[in-house]
Formats: sequence, C-alpha cells, structure tokens
Amino acid sequence: MPRKTTISHIKCDVGSLAGHHIVPKSLLNIADKNLKKAKEEGLINSYYVFNVGDDLQLLMVHENGEANSDIHKLAWDTFQEAANKALELKLYGAGQDLLKTAFSGTIRGMGPGFAEMEIEERGSDPVVALAADKTSGGAFNYPLFRIFADPMNTAGLVIDPNMAGGFKFEVLDTIENKKVVLKCPEEVYELIALVGTVQRYMISAIRRARDDLICAVGSVTRLSQIAGRYVGKDDPVIIVRAQHGLPAVGEILVPFIHSYLVEGWMRGSHWGPIMPVGLKDAKCTAFDGPPRIVALGFQIANGKIASDDNGKPMIADLFDDVAFALARREALKYASMLRRMGEFEPARLGPEEMEYTTLQQILEKLKGRFKPA
Ligand code: F6R
Ligand code: MG
Ligand code: MG
Repeated sequence: MPRKTTISHIKCDVGSLAGHHIVPKSLLNIADKNLKKAKEEGLINSYYVFNVGDDLQLLMVHENGEANSDIHKLAWDTFQEAANKALELKLYGAGQDLLKTAFSGTIRGMGPGFAEMEIEERGSDPVVALAADKTSGGAFNYPLFRIFADPMNTAGLVIDPNMAGGFKFEVLDTIENKKVVLKCPEEVYELIALVGTVQRYMISAIRRARDDLICAVGSVTRLSQIAGRYVGKDDPVIIVRAQHGLPAVGEILVPFIHSYLVEGWMRGSHWGPIMPVGLKDAKCTAFDGPPRIVALGFQIANGKIASDDNGKPMIADLFDDVAFALARREALKYASMLRRMGEFEPARLGPEEMEYTTLQQILEKLKGRFKPA
C-alpha cells in the first residue's frame, strides 16, 4: 500500500498591521509556536507558517486525512490566539474572518479558508501551493483552465501520453451550492462557459481522468454567505500536484507570466490586476493592492515536507524570480489605467457584487425626486 499523506493549507485574516496590509511577526510567532508544539506531539509532521498580505497561512503536512477535527481545531485555536493578540495590539480588523464562536469539529463554514488533499505518495511528489490576497476563489479559474485544459499552455497535454486522457474539473456553483464535474478536452467549451463566470462558478478540484488521481484542490468559500454581509473577499488558496503525468511545475507557473484581472482589491469591490510576487512582496499597498499571489513549491516525502539537514522544510518561493517581472510591470500598468477610471464600471464591480455599496441609500434618498421620463 502506498503511503497516504495529507496536505492541509488553512488560512485566515486574524487582523493586520497598518490597515489590511500585512500580518506582523508577533502573530506569525504564535502560529509558529503552536505548530511546533503540534509537531513535537506528533499531530503534524511538517509545517510552514507565512502570510500573504493580511492573511495568516498555515501549511501543514500530516497523516490524519482530510477534514480531521484535531487538525482543524489546531488551526482554529491558533487563529483565535493570534486574533486575541491582534486585539490586544489594537491591530486592524482583529478576528475579521472568525465568524463563529464555538468550534464544532470542522473549520468549514466558520470563516477561515482551507484546501486539503490526501495523496498516495508517488516516487517523488512535487507540490505547488498558491495563495492570494485581495481577491476571491474565482481568481484561480483562469490559470487552472490554462494549466489543466489548454494545450497552448501545457505542452504535456499534447506530448505526454500519460496526460492524454485529460482531466476532470469539479466546479462549484457558489450561489446554489451545487457541484458539477466536467471532463476536458471533451467538455472544454462547457467548462469555459461556466468558469468564465468567475464570480459565481469556481473550480474546487481537478482529477486526472484516466485514474481519478487528485491533482488540485482549492478553497472556495463565500464569506458573505456565512456572515450574511460583506466581510472581505475570500482570499483563496490552492494546492496543485506536479510532474510525472501531471502538469510540470513550469506549466503550473507559466500562466502567471502575464497579469490578468480578478475581483477584489479595494473594499472587495473592484477589478484589479493580479501581481505574482515573492513572499517579501506579499503585501498590499496601493488601493489596498494590487491583489498579490505567491507560489510555494515543495516536495512531499515520507509523510512530510522534504526538509534540510536541520529539519527545516525546504520551500521554493517560486514567484520570487525575474521571469515574473513582466507580469508585475503589466499589473502596475493595468492598475494605473483602472484607477484613472475611479468608481466608473468596469473598474468598479457591478452593484450585485460590490457588497460595500451605498447605492440603496442613494436611491432611497432620491426616491421622491425621480419623475416619469
Ligand atoms: C479588501 C479590504 C480592504 C478594506 C478597506 C476598507 O478586502 O479588506 O480593501 O475593505 O481597507 O476597510 P474599512 O472599511 O475597514 O476601513
Ligand atoms: Mg483584513
Ligand atoms: Mg486578505
């Protein structure tokens, strides 16, 4: 029996320094302390704590399977503790994504976002974790389509016989809370028809068609549907497996050599250009952005993240590279173009997606002044 290992990537905005800018070191230290203890106690085998903008990210590798209540509780308690520290320091938006009070066995529906994948370890298992700030789950539809369905992006779809059977995409309708599975290349037009509607349909998982091997899982939540009001965008994470009959790491990264537009940015109410960056630049500034994305590469080995001689997980900061300088420049160019338009659509989202709108109040105020045209 091949060994089964679980990757759990769980994230939460627990409060941040200088508005919605970054998670400060003292909060990262709390996460580090708790995950170190969990590792010493044997609950998890490896971990990596980082932040993308104002989101605290816990990447954990263990052998307890998906949706394990001890793992979810570890994340929940860590977010609670970090949020309490944020409150004490009067950081901004302390506990922002912690929408429930009592933990009840799973973190689902409680505010934090998560992507989890149980895998049977292959001979070598390269993984890329992508995490973004100031955007939502639909931001990954376009690159995931390119990576797993577009032969103009992924050479392996054309020239690797192991990929010839294509991939199956699980798509979530976030409004009706229903899922559908579409098989590519046969249903590529149907897939684009759905996931091109990025605000409603989101790719939640991808499997290799010929053997159902799990290839990618994403966090697809809508915080506003849990809280019943605007509480920030659902800054998403995805875990993607690479190589040996799956897209190569380079095929996973190449869609990001150009910037593209995603929803989010200021007040979660604007279209903004995605900017691929290394961890050192994973912070949102201009107009609370532009939306940033990081890609961390690692190897799963014997139930852990492959580690160096000192036991430190080896993490490749994949967008910290000159190959993405063009995308960063494009992002700045698109940002300046969009911001010149101010609050005029399409720079601003349509009224249904804005969530932060004053339109209702304005219409109410002007009610008596509208005359038949
Ligand atoms: C985006 C985000 C920020 C805030 C903005 C206003 O997800 O969190 O852009 O919406 O900084 O924040 P408030 O209303 O808290 O002053
Ligand atoms: Mg925030
Ligand atoms: Mg955020």
